[in-house]
Amino acid sequence: MTGAKTSDPPHTFRVGIIGAGLMAGERAAALRELSGVAVSAIASRSIERADRLADEYAAERYADWRQMLEAGLDGIIVATPNHVHAEQAIAALEHGKHVLVEYPLAITMGDVERMFEVAEASNRVLAAGFNTLYPVRKIAERARCLGRPILAYHDGINQRPDDYGWYLKESVSGGMIVLWGIEQIASLCHLMGRVRSVSAFGTDSFFRPDGGHDSYTLALAFESGASASIQVTINAPATVRTLRIVYEDGIVDRQGGHPATIQMAGQEPTQLHLEGPSPTTADTSNWIAACRGHSSRFPSREDTLHFHQVAFAARQAAVTGQTVSLS
Ligand SMILES: NC(=O)c1ccc[n+]([C@@H]2O[C@H](COP(=O)([O-])OP(=O)(O)OC[C@H]3O[C@@H](n4cnc5c(N)ncnc54)[C@H](OP(=O)(O)O)[C@@H]3O)[C@@H](O)[C@H]2O)c1
Repeated sequence: MTGAKTSDPPHTFRVGIIGAGLMAGERAAALRELSGVAVSAIASRSIERADRLADEYAAERYADWRQMLEAGLDGIIVATPNHVHAEQAIAALEHGKHVLVEYPLAITMGDVERMFEVAEASNRVLAAGFNTLYPVRKIAERARCLGRPILAYHDGINQRPDDYGWYLKESVSGGMIVLWGIEQIASLCHLMGRVRSVSAFGTDSFFRPDGGHDSYTLALAFESGASASIQVTINAPATVRTLRIVYEDGIVDRQGGHPATIQMAGQEPTQLHLEGPSPTTADTSNWIAACRGHSSRFPSREDTLHFHQVAFAARQAAVTGQTVSLS
């Protein structure tokens, strides 16, 4: 550790973040908005990277995340590449910390299950940071009057990066479906219930020098009889998110961060406002409340496990070309 230690007021919920990249910065900013909570420590293998974020929050900084676990913290946020999530989260839980892991929880279903087993044995909260579910939850509440969902389309179209970094290394990220498709899977499961079976295929890359698949199309069949499709890519000229749900009595449409619209039979579309705190602030606040025993975690453990089961099943379906049944 280097740098000065912050003196947090008594009863402060002290959080350490493993990672100092994009999501670590977003989570730290969200924590700052919450009362009685402090960003107390940052760990990143490059101490310069840790310094940049730690300076902003007057936090301790560590080049070794294991050392940070000895530092009297209440909670740990894991915001590192996906292949190290399980090891870091399990060590934190075994040190008696509550843990929030950026999604996906891990790159194998076995690791995801093991993480929940350790959380249960440690009597600590383990959360997957599905921040993107918060606006979807509002859509689900507002669309109750439209009857049952029948069909849906959701995409995760991501702008081609200058540097693909670790995202495209399947052994690090888990692959495009597990890394990003799980966001669309979680949203559709929240809206439409449990998935019965999944099919998927990958599209050859048009852009990557090493080829391979970086775009996928998924088809989900739900236990309710409803169905949905997902398209996910890292190779688009711009980032967009489209969500379209056809209910028995109306259609909900959402483009990116724009307000959703709702259209009922024979009527013009009207706006469905989704105002409130940012999704990352809402999600971080919910995790802290769950750690303090003030509310239950959203999404639940059972739903979080299901989102991961569907994502790993879709990855298997894309590799084998076979429909995978989850029942
Ligand atoms: N919820 C969302 O909207 C959303 C959006 C994007 C990403 N994510 C998820 O957020 C997580 C982090 O993604 P990101 O985009 O923030 O990544 P990033 O910007 O690449 O940052 C990763 C951080 O982890 C550290 N790190 C890398 N390898 C490590 C290792 N083996 N052990 C310990 N630390 C390591 C890196 O610094 P050092 O190399 O110095 O250690 C860096 O500080 C991922 O799980 C990703 O799937 C979620």
